[in-house]
Amino acid sequence: MANINWDKLGFDAYETNTVILSHYKDGKWSPIRRSDEFSFTFDPFAAVFHYATSCFEGMKAFRQKNGRACIFRPEENAKRMQRTADYLGLPAPTKEMFIKMSEECVKANIEFLPPYGHHASMYIRPLLIGMRPQMQLIPPTECVFAVMCAPAGSYYGENLSSFSAVIARNYDRAAPQGSGSYKVGANYPCSFKPYKMAHEQGYTEILYLNSATKQYIDEYGSSNFFAIKGNTYVTPLSDSVLPSITNKSLQQVAMDFGMTVEKRKVPVEELAEFDEAAACGTAVVITPMSHIDDKPTIEGKEVTKVYKFFQDGKVGPVCSKLYKTITGIQFGELPDTHGWCYMLPEGI
Ligand code: PLP
Ligand code: COI
Repeated sequence: MANINWDKLGFDAYETNTVILSHYKDGKWSPIRRSDEFSFTFDPFAAVFHYATSCFEGMKAFRQKNGRACIFRPEENAKRMQRTADYLGLPAPTKEMFIKMSEECVKANIEFLPPYGHHASMYIRPLLIGMRPQMQLIPPTECVFAVMCAPAGSYYGENLSSFSAVIARNYDRAAPQGSGSYKVGANYPCSFKPYKMAHEQGYTEILYLNSATKQYIDEYGSSNFFAIKGNTYVTPLSDSVLPSITNKSLQQVAMDFGMTVEKRKVPVEELAEFDEAAACGTAVVITPMSHIDDKPTIEGKEVTKVYKFFQDGKVGPVCSKLYKTITGIQFGELPDTHGWCYMLPEGI
């Protein structure tokens, strides 16, 4: 077992033992191999450096209460990577290959899987990149599919506490009919600068609106948006948001609670009518918002509207119940009635 303070883990890159790899060349994937060097060597003209031919996935492995290890819904991530790869014109790993390599990654780095009881997990990062040296604007014919992992705690530093967000009116995350619903690497760096400014002003997250009209909520820079209104779970229906596997799971959990789920356009002003609002995703799990500020520009001082929810780190009852249920299933504390936990063999 690695010498790690499991209670103090954040969410960051981490050098573990091994990366699991396969190369795509001449129309086929190579046999899976382990790289214990923890580095890649690429041609300087590799497509990924010049044309951002890169997409990735994010999943978590858990050590459950009964000692077994599991990965949460890897089939869904495999399908989403295939959809993204198709969008980028890249060859996609098969579902079987994706799951096998993810499982191999957990096994090869098992000493970094946090023990049960620390509210920590192992974040698994499958990455697909174009590596063929090229200048032409054509899909790369040579790729690497690599699966790496890192022990992970809470993305924002604390589990189930409330944080704040600012609406990005003068920045867009995704163009209409653009890449927003795909997990392409290039979707993320456009939010680095606004994130820096937002963090300097004390906000944790950025909430993006639909870029065409700025009337409706799309999603956060790192995660999906959902809100609670009475007995209803509301989440945006938009072609520009990533189809979150956590959100999909929470919608099912909400229905299991007897709640109504509404997937529809969410006007910004409706924030005033919600009892609770939160971010959800693999990294952020459920992160409730204490308040969301609407500003004409992130740079400026003017705040046009403040939407308040639960203050001082407090969390609403529905977010709390959803969080306990989803993490309860992941850690094997509650029955996995929907078959979401992909169990690794006993003894791992
Ligand atoms: N939205 C964005 C932009 C993301 O990067 C993520 C993280 O993967 C999500 C939403 C949440 O998706 P998931 O729940 O599948 O991790
Ligand atoms: C995840 O939740 O898996 C993510 O990829 C979020 C990350 C971009 C911060």
